[in-house]
Amino acid sequence: MMTAAIALFIGKFFIMANKEEIKLDKLPSHIAIIMDGNGRWAKKRGNQRIFGHRNGVAAVRDTVEAAAEIGIQYLTLYAFSTENWNRPKLEIDALMGLLVQTLSSETPTLLKNNVKLNVIGETSSLPKDVAKQLNEVLEVTSKNTGLLLTLALSYSSRWEIIEAVKKIAYKIESGELKAKDITCDQFTDNLTTARIPDPELLIRTSGEFRISNFLLWQIAYAELHFTPTLWPDFRRDDLYKAILDFQSRERRFGKISEQVVTNN
Ligand code: FPP
Repeated sequence: MMTAAIALFIGKFFIMANKEEIKLDKLPSHIAIIMDGNGRWAKKRGNQRIFGHRNGVAAVRDTVEAAAEIGIQYLTLYAFSTENWNRPKLEIDALMGLLVQTLSSETPTLLKNNVKLNVIGETSSLPKDVAKQLNEVLEVTSKNTGLLLTLALSYSSRWEIIEAVKKIAYKIESGELKAKDITCDQFTDNLTTARIPDPELLIRTSGEFRISNFLLWQIAYAELHFTPTLWPDFRRDDLYKAILDFQSRERRFGKISEQVVTNN
C-alpha cells in the first residue's frame, strides 16, 4: 500500500516535471496522431476488439484536453481509414456506433475547452447517423476559437492526393489554370487540409513503425515519434513526452546544422 502511494507520488512528480520542461514558445503548432493498438489492448485482456475502441475514447478525451490546455493549435486524429472499411462488418458497425455516441457525449468537453471540430475524408461514405451527428457537432463548435480538432474519417492520403489531382485537372480542362503554373502551394490548397499548416509532429502508438497512408504529402518535414504505448493507455503524459522529444530534435529542412537556429 505504502509502496503504491510512493510510486503514485513519484509518477505524478515526473508527469509534472515533464510538462514543466516543455518550452511553450517552441510548441509544434500541429500534431497528428495515428491512434493504434486498440485491438491488441482488448486482446491482452481477453476481450473483443470493440472493448479496446471504447477504451480508446478516454485517450482521445485526455489528449484533446491536454493539447488544448497547453496551447496546441491543430490536432489531427486518424480515427478511421479508407482501408478500415475492409474490417469485419461487426467491428465497422460497432466503431460507427461508438463514433455517434462519442461525438454526442464529448460535445460538452469540446465546448468547455473551446475546441472547434473539423473532419477530413470521404465523409459521403459514412452512415447517415454518423454524418448527422458529425454535422451537429461541427455546427455547435463552429464558433470556437481554440484548438482545431480534425478527425480523419474514411480518410486515406492516396485518396486525398487523387482528389486533389482531379480538382487541378478540371481547372486545367476549363482553362482556369495552366499546367506550367502548378506549384506546391497550389497543390496544398487542393488537399482536404488546405488552410491547415503541415503537422510538425506525427505520433504513432502501439510500437508500429508505419505511416499507413496518413497525410503523406503533409508530413514531408514532420518529426516522427513512435511509442510502444497502446492507444487506450495513451494519456497526457505520453503527449508531453512526444512534445519534449520533438523539442529535442534539430529541424534542418535540408540545410546544415550551422544554418539553423536549434529548438534548444
Ligand atoms: C486502431 O487500432 C484504431 C482504430 C482503427 C479506431 C480508432 C478509434 C477510436 C480511438 C475510438 C474513438 C475515436 C474517436 C475519434 C471518437 P486497431 O484496431 O488497428 O488496433 P490493433 O492494431 O491492435 O488491431
